[in-house]
Amino acid sequence: MSKLKNMNQEQRAQAMIERKVSKAKYKEHLRELAVHNREENKKRKKRHKEIAKLIKKDKPNQVKYKKEFEAVKKESLKHVNERVQKVNDWYKTVEKSKSVEKHYKKQLKKAKQPAFDFNGDIVFENVSYTYSKGTPFEFRALNGTDISIKKGKITAIIGMTGSGKSTLIQLTNGLIISETGRTIIGNYSLYAKTKKIKEVKDLRREIGLVFQFPEYQLFQDSIEKDIAFGPINLGAEKTQSLKNVPNLLKMVDLPVEYASRNPFDLSGGQKRRVAIAGIIAMDGDTLVLDEPTGGLDPQGEEDFMKLFYNLNKEKGKRIIIVTHNMDHVLQIADEVIVMHKGKVISVGDPFEIFSNFDLLRTIEIEPPKLYKLAYKLKEQGIDITTSKFRTVEEVANAIKLAKNRK
Ligand SMILES: Nc1ncnc2c1ncn2[C@@H]1O[C@H](COP(=O)(O)OP(=O)(O)OP(=O)(O)O)[C@@H](O)[C@H]1O
Ligand SMILES: [Mg+2]
Repeated sequence: MSKLKNMNQEQRAQAMIERKVSKAKYKEHLRELAVHNREENKKRKKRHKEIAKLIKKDKPNQVKYKKEFEAVKKESLKHVNERVQKVNDWYKTVEKSKSVEKHYKKQLKKAKQPAFDFNGDIVFENVSYTYSKGTPFEFRALNGTDISIKKGKITAIIGMTGSGKSTLIQLTNGLIISETGRTIIGNYSLYAKTKKIKEVKDLRREIGLVFQFPEYQLFQDSIEKDIAFGPINLGAEKTQSLKNVPNLLKMVDLPVEYASRNPFDLSGGQKRRVAIAGIIAMDGDTLVLDEPTGGLDPQGEEDFMKLFYNLNKEKGKRIIIVTHNMDHVLQIADEVIVMHKGKVISVGDPFEIFSNFDLLRTIEIEPPKLYKLAYKLKEQGIDITTSKFRTVEEVANAIKLAKNRK
């Protein structure tokens, strides 16, 4: 009001009009917002209904999955005596200590529980997952996906950001449980109704999951303790786990003397190495790596790719790697899974995937450098996209062959 007081009549009228206009605009904005909210709510309710319908449709399958899994457990319990015998045989041969005694008791208890073989194919059957269900942020990240990941192979999972890659891999070790379908790991099964995973320690030892920034998981006061923590926590014998540390440090290219240092005194890349050593220490059959080299220098990335490749070729570990780096995929992957909007849209070896230009355009992913070169050459009449190549030498050979064909 005080402002209006100091104005002449004309100015006052103008100000009043402006106020009215802005009030009307505000009201209009509120009306638009209400319409938008109503529409969003409608969409949300529709989505919700769809999800509920899919879950209902899947119910009979869940009954079947549970029965099948119970049968696997029952079969395994038939072999308790053999497992107990094995533990006793081991105990006879080792030097006794307090730690060995403790481990022996734990192993005996474990031998009497069902045991599983996690080293078969990982099979996702109609898996779906919704984040923040029932809130405005509800998002269906997996949409009834079917795919298998073979044992003993290197599988890369690619796709644009938000396509569901991280969500899919978290199903492999029970960090999240799908709403429909099931995830089979060897003869172990995680089905939608699984509430409490009893065998979670076994599962997590066999499927070592490395998050995008694994260094945040470091928390011990020495590197040695950090590396040995996983195996000890998951049931391995303490002295032996600590004995393995120097070897693990060598594997990730860190000096053996670092064992007693504090992990927080290391550089980002070195912390990453410690964290990955900790996962390798668990010696499971599968390593799942979610963008493991993001933020590392090119040499570090190269070293890790070599390490993962060697772990597969020399120790037969299954490697599942989520990455945005297509050069790495071409370098090491046996199989590539392409995700798009919560579904798998293509599977094949890297040569099939990277020679499919339309597919790469759909998922907005740039081909590896060697394929970029191949596409350029194709424009100039030299087609090597039908050849298989992973290295510069192999490209050179393919060019020679293509020229000879001409
Ligand atoms: N905790 C969460 N709450 C709500 N939505 C989420 C959550 N985590 C992921 N999402 C959503 O689910 C979708 C799939 O996420 P996910 O992390 O699996 O994608 P991604 O393929 O791994 O992507 P990126 O390449 O960026 O890592 C994304 O749209 C994401 O926004
Ligand atoms: Mg991700």
